[in-house]
Amino acid sequence: MSKNRITLLGGTGFVGTALSCRLAQHFDEVILLTRHAQRSRSLRILSNVHFVQTNIHDPKQLEEALKGSSAVVNLVGILNSAGKDSKHSFTGAHADLTKNVVQACEKLNIKRYLHMSALNADADKGSSEYLRSKGVAEIMVKNGKTLNWTIFQPSVIFGEEDSFFNRFAALLTSLPVFPLACPDAKMAPVYVGDVVDAMTASIKNPDTINQTIKLCGPAEYTLQELVEYTAKTAGLNRKVIRLPDAVSRLQARVMEFVPGKPFSYDNYLSLQTDAVCSDECSSQATSIDAVVPTYIGVSKGINARHQSRRALARR
Ligand SMILES: NC(=O)c1ccc[n+]([C@@H]2O[C@H](COP(=O)([O-])OP(=O)(O)OC[C@H]3O[C@@H](n4cnc5c(N)ncnc54)[C@H](OP(=O)(O)O)[C@@H]3O)[C@@H](O)[C@H]2O)c1
Repeated sequence: MSKNRITLLGGTGFVGTALSCRLAQHFDEVILLTRHAQRSRSLRILSNVHFVQTNIHDPKQLEEALKGSSAVVNLVGILNSAGKDSKHSFTGAHADLTKNVVQACEKLNIKRYLHMSALNADADKGSSEYLRSKGVAEIMVKNGKTLNWTIFQPSVIFGEEDSFFNRFAALLTSLPVFPLACPDAKMAPVYVGDVVDAMTASIKNPDTINQTIKLCGPAEYTLQELVEYTAKTAGLNRKVIRLPDAVSRLQARVMEFVPGKPFSYDNYLSLQTDAVCSDECSSQATSIDAVVPTYIGVSKGINARHQSRRALARR
């Protein structure tokens, strides 16, 4: 009998690590295609998770690496673009790569394909280059002739290794007064455990074929509420200063030159569209209160970290 092999692109990141752990419980083999096979040590203890170092932007190498897959999951995504035409640009990492993956899957007769997009992705109306390139990638997926695709559109995702609450917690620690751009931007943070559950379940669920699934948490917040929540949870007494729109733009332009680009003009543009699911929010979804205090809370520590990992493992 042939093995159930799930191949992931972008599987070594925050969502990919959680997804690999979940998939490893349900499928025979999980293959992670990566540019840096030496990273992601935490996944190495799983005997059915394997790393393959390859250049996924090279169509030949990509096709070779996807051979034998029962399903392919594409999680590759970047928040900041480096240049216009490279594989590190929004177009290269989102749209061009997706086109190649779809072509390779069709050539190899791989039918099942899961694609990670983002809420508000739209090739024409997306408010930022990030959202427009995610929208173009979705068109590439839907243009597939033989593919059984499912597209996921999450709001901001939280979990122990996230770059949202952790980043704000780190910034709040070093700044006594916090100047916040786009304080009224709305989002509905969704727990990484809920995201990977939805993706894992969809692989074998024919009802999700050719569907776009929005993923939101149980509540909507403004960015200011989330930053104030982060400060309170981390036990920090901080004043958050709301920046007016013109100053938010200026801050975004200036931060582009800060090492690591903590905020960019394109990020500012993404925040102009609320990342919420309207009536599709699931009241069953995990709340920020159930998990965030375990990794940025004042009482964080070995027990809290175990609690957070148990939440992810659903134990
Ligand atoms: N985190 C969120 O809040 C959030 C919200 C909405 C949507 N999403 C989407 O969810 C997906 C996963 O997000 P994440 O937070 O897990 O991201 P992440 O931690 O930054 O991981 C991104 C992964 O993509 C790969 N990658 C990055 N740039 C690449 C490039 N130029 N070429 C090839 N591979 C590249 C990396 O793989 P290697 O370095 O191993 O090669 C890495 O494993 C992304 O598509 C993102 O847009 C995330």
